[in-house]
Amino acid sequence: DGPETVSPTGAPTGAPKTSMGQQGEFLTTSAGARIRDTDHSLKAGERGPTLLQDHHLREKVMHFDHERIPERVVHARGYGAHGTFVGYGTASNVCKSAFLADGIETPVFVRFSTVLGSRGSADTVRDTRGFATKFYTQEGNFDLVGNNIPVFFIQDGIKFPDVIHAGKPHPDREIPQAQSAHDTFWDFVSTHTEATHHVMWNMSDRGIPRSYRTMEGFGVHTFRLVNEAGETVLAKFHWKPKLGVHSLVWEEAQMINGFDPDFHRRDLADAIESGAHPQWELGLQIFPDTPKQTFEGIDLLDPTKIVPEELAPVQPVGLLTLNRNTMNFFAETEQVAFHLGNLVPGIDVTDDPLFQARLFSYLDTQLTRLAGPNFNQIPINRPHVPVNDMFRDGYHQHAVHAGVAPYKPNTLDGGNPFEAGAENRPFVEVAQPVARSAKVREAPASYSDHFSQPRLFWLSMSPVEKEHLIRAFTFELGKCYEQAVKERQLQVLANVDATLCSEVAKGLGLPAPAPTVRPRKVTPSPALSQVGQTWPTD
Ligand code: HEM
Repeated sequence: DGPETVSPTGAPTGAPKTSMGQQGEFLTTSAGARIRDTDHSLKAGERGPTLLQDHHLREKVMHFDHERIPERVVHARGYGAHGTFVGYGTASNVCKSAFLADGIETPVFVRFSTVLGSRGSADTVRDTRGFATKFYTQEGNFDLVGNNIPVFFIQDGIKFPDVIHAGKPHPDREIPQAQSAHDTFWDFVSTHTEATHHVMWNMSDRGIPRSYRTMEGFGVHTFRLVNEAGETVLAKFHWKPKLGVHSLVWEEAQMINGFDPDFHRRDLADAIESGAHPQWELGLQIFPDTPKQTFEGIDLLDPTKIVPEELAPVQPVGLLTLNRNTMNFFAETEQVAFHLGNLVPGIDVTDDPLFQARLFSYLDTQLTRLAGPNFNQIPINRPHVPVNDMFRDGYHQHAVHAGVAPYKPNTLDGGNPFEAGAENRPFVEVAQPVARSAKVREAPASYSDHFSQPRLFWLSMSPVEKEHLIRAFTFELGKCYEQAVKERQLQVLANVDATLCSEVAKGLGLPAPAPTVRPRKVTPSPALSQVGQTWPTD
């Protein structure tokens, strides 16, 4: 009975038997007429010209001509899988979301990605990885759209087009295709020192994961959680892989790019197919929801900062298991549409300006990428709960809406459908006071410390990890044509650590500059795996 029963992803569990484009015994046109011959066009005689009346020829070629949709403007290369999430119930005191309750099993779809490369680029390039999860909860879809790096390049979403323009290939040569090794990227990050922390993670071993299965994931932003009593906390989301965090070394990554550019997607698909289902624990760092929205001096609305785990331990709240490969890459991985505004009761946004811009951007881009406003009707995006919206018509409308015109209050529709009362658990935005102030186009003063956390990151590394970081900076900066760009980035490194700077400078054959910013004193922790465990003592 229609697409619901036959779609690849409409059913919460189990693989479907068939798909709506492949029913019945005979080959047909898209209108269902049976076809006798799909290999020869209709001609005026055996050697004559092709006839315009050949509908099957025209339909076949026309459809092929339009098979492609635009790739994502970022995160174009990705790979997805289905799974389940089971809540531990440990979040219940801070968050009322039903899917986090003890033992509740929720179907999920996860898409991993690289940020900068095009759809056909290689997997093991040095880049940030996306880690986006769609939870099909009983209260609607919740999308946790994170990365494998806990901080971001910029503090305000208005800079996102700029950082991506700088990171994507040069417009003239379309080089480089998937790596950060070029002048505009380094020009941008050396002039926007807020990017330093993210760049340090990129140049570390975290920038070349061994497998999607061995990556951490981070929601990056601070969210606001609400419990049943209406009390709020601020929180950061973490995914911790059961297999631990593992990276490639640079030479391995280079060789794999050549031998098997599909290394990460093959690894994930093979693991799932063989029953080695990868698992991640979802964890929360929880902070009091104070008017300042800071924790131990860290601005929780600044997405370039972490909160060290020794100050706010990650508390496990549930388990994700990926256990089913996609049946059709296009239908599922390519058409999935994540959006940070897909929230469920218990989880709300904060005023982080990066978060706020994202709330606009995803919906906006998907209008083009998925051709119109009805992309939530695509099977992979459909919630697993009844949908009863007031949206009508538009491109690719699949619903046949009944009843009178959708407006409220409507005295002609018999009172249906209802707006949910509190007892029906609607999503309600947390009432937050909004400061009465002048309109401002500037960052708060707390956003100006760009070097303490990069230094903390550097000091947390083992000697081998430091060596890898130095070599990565040297290699990537070595690809720049502009000496001024290299010199400016060396200045940034000098402000992080003198040894880091001098070692990279040596590799580039350039003098090491003196720092222009006095670093705050930080206490190192022993290894990269411990990142987040220490914090400045001064
Ligand atoms: C796509 C993460 C910042 C715009 C993605 C994806 C991820 C992601 C994981 C891929 C989703 C998928 O697999 O389909 C992040 C993180 C950010 C961030 C963690 C910062 C914390 C931003 C900002 C903007 C933005 C600031 C714009 C203002 C986009 C767009 C896409 C995208 C347009 C393509 C979406 C689509 O075509 O469906 N992002 N992003 N992102 N992101 Fe972000």
